[in-house]
Amino acid sequence: MPDTTYPHEVLDDDAALATRAFEVLTEAAREAIAARGKFSLALTGGSGPRGLYQRLAKEPGSVDWANTFVFLGDERFVPYDAKDSNFGMCKTLLLDHVPVPAENVLPIPTDTGTKEEAAVDYAATLTRVLTPAAGQPPVLDLVLLGMGDDGHCASLFPGKPTLEISDVWTTGSTPGTLPPPVGRVTVTFPVLNAARNVLFLVPGQSKAKAVRDIFEGNPPKEVHPSAAVQPTDGTLLWLLDKPAASLLTR
Ligand code: 6PG
Repeated sequence: MPDTTYPHEVLDDDAALATRAFEVLTEAAREAIAARGKFSLALTGGSGPRGLYQRLAKEPGSVDWANTFVFLGDERFVPYDAKDSNFGMCKTLLLDHVPVPAENVLPIPTDTGTKEEAAVDYAATLTRVLTPAAGQPPVLDLVLLGMGDDGHCASLFPGKPTLEISDVWTTGSTPGTLPPPVGRVTVTFPVLNAARNVLFLVPGQSKAKAVRDIFEGNPPKEVHPSAAVQPTDGTLLWLLDKPAASLLTR
C-alpha cells in the first residue's frame, strides 16, 4: 500500500535523475501551456535540483519561458546574493540562462521587513498571479521539492507548528535542526497539496532512511513532513537515485 501512496522511480545516478526530471518538467510545461496558456513553476533549493537546473540552462528552448511564471516554494531569509539563498542558486544555475521575462520571476522577498511580512507579501503575489477562487489555495502547475535528511520539504520542518497551517498559503518558519540556521519563508501544505504536479528530487544515501520510513512506514507529518505531500487532484512523483532507494525493502 505505501508504494502506491508514494509513486516513485529509481534512477541509476544523479545524472539520470536530472534527465528524468527534465522530461517531467518539460512535459508539465507543455501540458499547462496547451491547456491554460501559462505554466506556473515553483523551484526548490537544496542539492537535488542542481542537475535539472543545469540541463534546463543548457537547453533554453526546451520550455516556453515567455509563458512561464517562476516562484519559489521556500526561501532562506537572507539576501539573494548570500551563498545560502535558494533564489540566488536558482538564478545562477538556471534563470540567468533562459529567456524568462523578468516580470515573470517571482522570488520570495528577503530584503525588507521580517520573514512574517515577507510571507504575507508572497501569499498576495501567489494569489494575484494564480487567481484562485476565494478562500482556496493557489494552484501551481508544478512544484519541485527536495527532501532533507530529516524528512522535511520546502521549509516545513518536523515537529513545528507550521505543519498544522491550513488556511494561510505562506508562513515564516524557524529553522529546523539541519543547516543553515536561518529563518525561512515557505509555502504551506495547502499549496503543496493543491498543485497539479509535485515532483520530489531526492538523491543520495543520506536520504535513504527517511525515504524508507516514509514509503514503508506511513509516518505522521510531525515526524516526516514530506509524507504529507499528497496532492488532492494532482500527480505526485518521487525521483530517487539508487543510494536514496537503497534501504527500500519492496
Ligand atoms: C532549502 C530547501 C529544502 C531542501 C531540502 C533538501 O531551503 O534547503 O528548499 O527543503 O530541498 O533541505 O536539500 P538537499 O537536497 O540539499 O538535502
